[in-house]
Amino acid sequence: MIVIGGSSSRDLAKELAMRLDCKCILASSTRFPDGECYTRIEGESLNDDVVIVQNTYPDQNIIEMLLIQDAAKRMGAKKITLVIPYFGYARQDRIFKPGEPESAKVMIKHLGLVCDRVLTIDIHKDNILKNFKCPAKDLKASAAIAEYFMDKGIDVVLAPDAGAAERAKDVGKRMDLPYDHLEKVRLSGTEVRIAPARMDCKDKNVLIVDDIIATGGTILAATIQLKQAGAKSVSVVCTHGVFTGDAIQRLTGNQIDVLLCCNTLESKVSNISVANIVADELKKGKKKGLFGKN
Ligand code: R5P
Repeated sequence: MIVIGGSSSRDLAKELAMRLDCKCILASSTRFPDGECYTRIEGESLNDDVVIVQNTYPDQNIIEMLLIQDAAKRMGAKKITLVIPYFGYARQDRIFKPGEPESAKVMIKHLGLVCDRVLTIDIHKDNILKNFKCPAKDLKASAAIAEYFMDKGIDVVLAPDAGAAERAKDVGKRMDLPYDHLEKVRLSGTEVRIAPARMDCKDKNVLIVDDIIATGGTILAATIQLKQAGAKSVSVVCTHGVFTGDAIQRLTGNQIDVLLCCNTLESKVSNISVANIVADELKKGKKKGLFGKN
């Protein structure tokens, strides 16, 4: 097996290859003066199963992913597994208003043209993966998150909204801690309202778990609510730190005591690695026959 890292996920690709004890090639990637992508996999031929690690966010990474797949196939890749740590466009998984596209399906249609298997991590809605023609599976980062916070004195695990409730439950159970979710109403793209927690958080060290932090509006509203309810500390963790604009600065300079995310997207707070989770799945797949049905 050979791991090929796209430009969005080089560190994760290197760590994954190390855990799998296999070769890692970092695809070179530059832009032509007009902005078009040029990518290249160094070497003569691949002649092995290949794992390509690359996000589909921001947009330019989608093009790079398509080009790397084509290059890998041409270099003799036997079977291609796409590892998409952060699957962009997963939130538009259906038509909300007439005239909109089904963005997630569009991505899947194009990304799935050449590959034989797809792995994602905490994709916003995993039901969209059934649209891939090849086997596709979403892996959960909860084990890595729970392991990281296990000895950090957390008392309660909360999700900021009902959509993240299962995630908080999974992390809470793994840490043997009480868990619940808050109720959120989205007022606009950047503003949300969070209702007071049902659980008593007074003098508690609370861990809020979400899948994505984008503007940080959700997490900040949840933190303010919990601090008003007397929480001793609020730690915030998400799988995908999208962090638009100066979100990291705004969040860490505010009432949040600890801000962390997984390394599906690289940032200065992406300290929790999902490499083990992906490596375990790939090893398991190898034993079962890598490209068998899920
Ligand atoms: C929403 O359904 C997601 O799980 C996140 O809560 C949301 O995407 C976070 O966005 P923001 O940081 O902009 O509030």
